[in-house]
Order: sequence, then structure tokens, then C-alpha cells
Amino acid sequence: MSGLPVRIAPSILSADFGRLAEEVQAVERAGADWIHVDVMDGHFVPNLTLGPVVVEAVRAATRLPLDVHLMIEAPERSLEAYVRAGASRVGVHVETCPHLHRTLCQIREAGAKACVVLNPATPAVLVEPVLADVDQVLVMSVNPGFGGQKFIPGVVPKIAQLRRWIDDAGLAVELEVDGGIGPGTVGAAARAGANVFVAGTSVFRAPDYAAAIAALREEAGAASV
Ligand code: DX5
Ligand code: ZN
Repeated sequence: MSGLPVRIAPSILSADFGRLAEEVQAVERAGADWIHVDVMDGHFVPNLTLGPVVVEAVRAATRLPLDVHLMIEAPERSLEAYVRAGASRVGVHVETCPHLHRTLCQIREAGAKACVVLNPATPAVLVEPVLADVDQVLVMSVNPGFGGQKFIPGVVPKIAQLRRWIDDAGLAVELEVDGGIGPGTVGAAARAGANVFVAGTSVFRAPDYAAAIAALREEAGAASV
């Protein structure tokens, strides 16, 4: 048990980008805790999304924390621009950071919370040395690049391992899971110790955003007791 609250972070990747501000405001009204913003560069992942200009537009549309997930090579070159644009939390992939500790310090120096992200096939041990230097760990439960993919159950033991290390060290680190989260998968991630749940398709493709968010929160809450 983390002692940290369950947080639902809708991913705008599955929103209607033609009406982005309205979509962000709709999930805020529907009970979202954070807004998850997926930045993709077409190199680290095979898709291209948005940059600081769009983060700035999202910032202007909501008061919720912006959880900016950088799926880009060399994130140390541009992370300050995302913080200036309004990112509250910045996630960098361990696979893109040869100087991981330095890059995480750079995020905090820029004024945001620091998050380290792992792909599904990346072992937990690669982030163990920096757990005391982060505010958040994000475990990918799909291979990053696209919304609407299937949850990979093989990542569940990795979530549990990270939760044990975080708790044993007495750290208040948020443990987040991203990819294929919906009814039926959110419980397994919560039971393993995740407390932050990114949900793209299962929120933005649902007919009723508030009902979708409430259902995720309820299933996660029941599983984490
Ligand atoms: C995937 C992104 C996710 C994605 C999740 O690369 O990091 O945030 O939007 O979408 P769903 O919830 O549809 O798997
Ligand atoms: Zn993401």
C-alpha cells in the first residue's frame, strides 16, 4: 500500500484534437485528477504528436496538473521548453537517457516533478538507483507509440517489485501505469501497487466520461485495499 490516492489521468492522445480545449475541460468536469499529455517524436516511437505549443494550449484550458510523457530522443535538449509551456510533471524514458540521474535533476531544476518511464521489456533494476531522485515512476503496459493497444500482463510483477522498493525505502513516489488501462485491467495494476492510472481509449472513447472515470476509480480503489 502506497498511502497515495488513486489518481486517474486521461490521455489526450485519444481525444478529438479539433476540440482539444473542450475535451480537456470535459474530463476535468468528469473528475480527472491529472491530464496526461503524450509527446512523440517519430524517432524513439513510430508516431508523431505534439510539442510545447500544444502543451501551452492545454495549460490554458485547465487547472489540473499536466503529466507530460516525453517519448522523444535526447529529452535533455527540450525538457525545459515543456516546463515553460506548463508541464507540472515531466516523464523521461530510461531508454533515452544515458545520464539518467542528471536528466532527472534537470527536470526538478526546471521546476517540475521528475518521472522516470520504463518500456514493457525494460527491467525495474535499471531505475532502482534513482528511486530516491524521482517523484514518480511510470511503467508502460504497452509498447509506446499508439493508443488503443492491449495491456501486457507481463508487466504486473514489475509494478509489484517497484512498489516494494519504494515502500521499503519509505519514499512517497507515485507509481503510474500507462497503456491498455480500462475495466478489467486497472484492478491488476492497482493490486500490484500502482496508484496513478493513465487511460486514453477507455475514457475518451466512452459515451460518458464521468462514468468511465468513476468506474476506473472504483475498480482501482477496491483492488488496492
Ligand atoms: C502510449 C501512450 C499512452 C496512450 C494510452 O504510447 O503513452 O498514454 O495514450 O492509450 P490507451 O489508454 O488507449 O492504451
Ligand atoms: Zn503516455
